[in-house]
Amino acid sequence: MTESFDDLYNRSIENPEQFWGELAKDVHWNKAPQKVLDDSNSPFNLWFPDGELNACYNALDLHVAEGNGDRLALIYDSPVTNTVRKITFSDMRDQVAKLAGALRDRGVQPGDRVLIYMPMVPEATMAMLACARIGAVHSVVFGGFAANELAVRIDDAEPVAILAASCGIEGNRIIPYKPLLDEAIELSSHKPGTCLILQRPQVEAGMIGGRDMDWASTVATAEPADCVPMPANAPLYVLYTSGTTGQPKGVVRDTGGYVVALKWSMGAIYGVLPGDVYWAASDVGWVVGHSYICYGPLLNGNTTVMFEGKPVGTPDPGAFWRVIADHKVKVLFTAPTAFRAIKKEDPSGSFIGKYDISSLEALFLAGERCDPDTLEWAQDKLKLPVIDHWWQTETGWSIAANCRGVELLPIVPGSPTRPAPGYSMDVLDSEGKPITTGDIGALVVKLPLPPGCFPTLWNAPERYVSSYFSAFPGYYETGDAGYIDENGYVFVMARTDDVINVAGHRLSTGAIEEALAGHPDVAECAVMGVADELKGQAPVGLLVLSDGGDRDHGGIVAECIQRVRDQIGPVAAFKTATVVTRLPKTRSGKILRATMRAIADGTQWKMPATIDDPIILDEIADSLKELGYPKA
Ligand code: COA
Ligand code: AMP
Repeated sequence: MTESFDDLYNRSIENPEQFWGELAKDVHWNKAPQKVLDDSNSPFNLWFPDGELNACYNALDLHVAEGNGDRLALIYDSPVTNTVRKITFSDMRDQVAKLAGALRDRGVQPGDRVLIYMPMVPEATMAMLACARIGAVHSVVFGGFAANELAVRIDDAEPVAILAASCGIEGNRIIPYKPLLDEAIELSSHKPGTCLILQRPQVEAGMIGGRDMDWASTVATAEPADCVPMPANAPLYVLYTSGTTGQPKGVVRDTGGYVVALKWSMGAIYGVLPGDVYWAASDVGWVVGHSYICYGPLLNGNTTVMFEGKPVGTPDPGAFWRVIADHKVKVLFTAPTAFRAIKKEDPSGSFIGKYDISSLEALFLAGERCDPDTLEWAQDKLKLPVIDHWWQTETGWSIAANCRGVELLPIVPGSPTRPAPGYSMDVLDSEGKPITTGDIGALVVKLPLPPGCFPTLWNAPERYVSSYFSAFPGYYETGDAGYIDENGYVFVMARTDDVINVAGHRLSTGAIEEALAGHPDVAECAVMGVADELKGQAPVGLLVLSDGGDRDHGGIVAECIQRVRDQIGPVAAFKTATVVTRLPKTRSGKILRATMRAIADGTQWKMPATIDDPIILDEIADSLKELGYPKA
């Protein structure tokens, strides 16, 4: 008899060591762990502390060794280049081994960092696995970030090598990556010894002698490298994510716990078996790309789809259905914003009928709050379970999910269902007391976090403790606010910090404000995430000028918008700002962003008791109205 979700969940909470220790037997260890959890230095908890393994071995070589080398590991589908490429586990293993050899030849050692700045091509996944193969720590930077953001990450991670491509392709636009990389290395204090550049036919990158090497010819002549057994707690990668300040947080992922949790999640959460085709339509630069384009599916022996395109415009809103039909995708995972984009262009879902998508069994959504309208539209059009699940870069996999591989629980629009196995959740008030009334509070997870979650922040253990574990001792503070209903369903409503979510991309309003504040005419500014029909949220900036000056406001606003694009990148999607005379503040000087956001969203708000000058809110409301907020 199969186990119910309740029984499985309870086991995971009552005896986590037994639960995860059992699941650890499903992965290949060079040295099997004798100890499951070392929590002697909490919150720096260590899973499988004395185990040794290699993540690349588990993702590729193991399947070849088990006789499944001819199965497809990866399908690259690129409508923007009219290419489909299919790579078996054997081929992938061989190509990754040579790339790893090329890195080793350039002096990359276990523990060294390697930065990856690449578009959605198979080589990006191979680059991650090649690092894992030789024990190097990869750090992928999303292609939509500008040189300045790349430089910040280079200086923090101090990579010995950078792997990049000559260009990315965004719809019908070619974005040369190499000039951004060169500029970033100019800006950074740390200089990598080697840059391995994948020349794509669309753009030939200029090469800098002594540093830059051609990917194809270097890899062709390299000797394949074997997998290096690594301690389970060795960092597998560092992935930078937005926090409250402009300095991004380097989320560290260790090896053993991640391999165990991710492999298990493929069956338990997504309900796919080895050999099934699984598609996460995201980007390698985000955590979804790490966990569910690269590691999760490959660890489980699934075929992963890498899609270099958009839900709309490449060429039409039928792109997703075409890919599902062509490659017999069983489970699709994307962000709600992708579905909002499809719905906007094809409200009746007419493109779905043009393809045979009978292979599809479920749609998973995450990355931002899933509005019930979008979920219900997808349910109605696909006639399949549409499953919202909630997670973060920090956790690496779902905090709350409907584990369809265990038992599909009733779907409640607006909720990512129940806490996933391993996560014991509470809702706390500002004093740290549990809220049992179903009211909104801070969503927290009792320690220890399950395997796969971040054991620390790169170069910033103090920030790890102060950002996540000090407000509520004994708990991990997710940074999300919400409630848990009487059936145990979690509702994630908003962030408690200055993080916003634009088209499923996590951004810091603090970082955007820092870029704006650097403009010589800007004395003060505030950025808030305002509700957006397509992208979930959109950043809107309010600028106070230094001297009330005689310069044309429109010109300053345009320069500010360009500044954010240049310093953070197009991904910030910062397109709207206006000049105001003052910002509303509390008497202690705190800018009242939440009140301004409520005015912009047209939701109910109360005059804050501590406001220093209520009249200013009228001016802000007028300025927002001129920008078109609240939307009708
Ligand atoms: N390299 C370079 N530029 C990039 C980029 C990349 N990898 N990714 C995005 N950009 C650019 C875009 O071209 C756009 O530039 P523009 O201002 O010149 O038009 C800008 O960054 C903003 O990108 P985005 O917010 O993604 O907007 P979009 O209009 O290009 O696409 C969606 C909107 C909804 C179609 C798209 O965001 C989407 O498919 N999102 C859902 C899936 C997803 O990736 N989720 C993330 C985590 S799960
Ligand atoms: P990231 O680290 O980029 O994955 O962003 C994580 C944040 O996105 C979370 O802290 C939430 O604020 C938001 N998020 C992700 N998934 C969901 C979801 N299913 N529902 C609500 N918010 C979500």
